Amino acid sequence: MAMEFTTSPGRTILVREGDITRVPVDAIANAANAALAGGGGVDGAIHRAGGPEIMRELDEIRRRIGGCPTGGAVATGAGRLPAQHVFHAVGPVYRDGRHGEPEQLASCYRRCLALADERQVRTISFPAISTGVYGYPLREATEIAVREVIAHLANPASGIQKAIFVPFGQQAYDVYVEICRANLPASR
Ligand code: APR
Repeated sequence: MAMEFTTSPGRTILVREGDITRVPVDAIANAANAALAGGGGVDGAIHRAGGPEIMRELDEIRRRIGGCPTGGAVATGAGRLPAQHVFHAVGPVYRDGRHGEPEQLASCYRRCLALADERQVRTISFPAISTGVYGYPLREATEIAVREVIAHLANPASGIQKAIFVPFGQQAYDVYVEICRANLPASR
């Protein structure tokens, strides 16, 4: 299942259901935690598929700067993943949406997109950050993700040509497609 949308000439958003570790890109965003300690969910899948090199790099980052604040992201290599970079983004734990969660989640996406442009990334994939263990309602989180990626791709200075949302499961896929449809023309 996949659906492509055009954001501006030559730039697209692809919604592709499945396991983000199987989608070849330049950079993969990860849904990490502030301790950069690894975990379950998509974080666990990324470390399993990428191998121990990614955690070794995170250990080094922890030694240097401690962890990563909520709303931030740090970059490592991608080990054995079909990518060059992983951006470990720390999404907010959802309480009620009135404790800065929308801004923190938006900041995760902006930070990953900035890290991507610093590294001349052309294709980047995103899981639904914060919508698993961290409890962010999927629809609200997807509105933020889609808005931030569209805004970034509208900047001609960005080198990103394709952003790929990788929702896990049919239900999540349907939500992403619906929200992209409401905001963008489909290209195929
Ligand atoms: N590919 C794509 N999406 C996935 C995959 C996968 N292989 N595995 C899980 N997901 C989806 C989930 O369905 C969910 O919608 O990723 C989304 C984010 O869920 P979590 O991985 O639980 O991430 P999050 O809610 O941000 O919580 C982060 O979980 O594992 C820990 O270390 C992580 O402590 C951190 C916390």
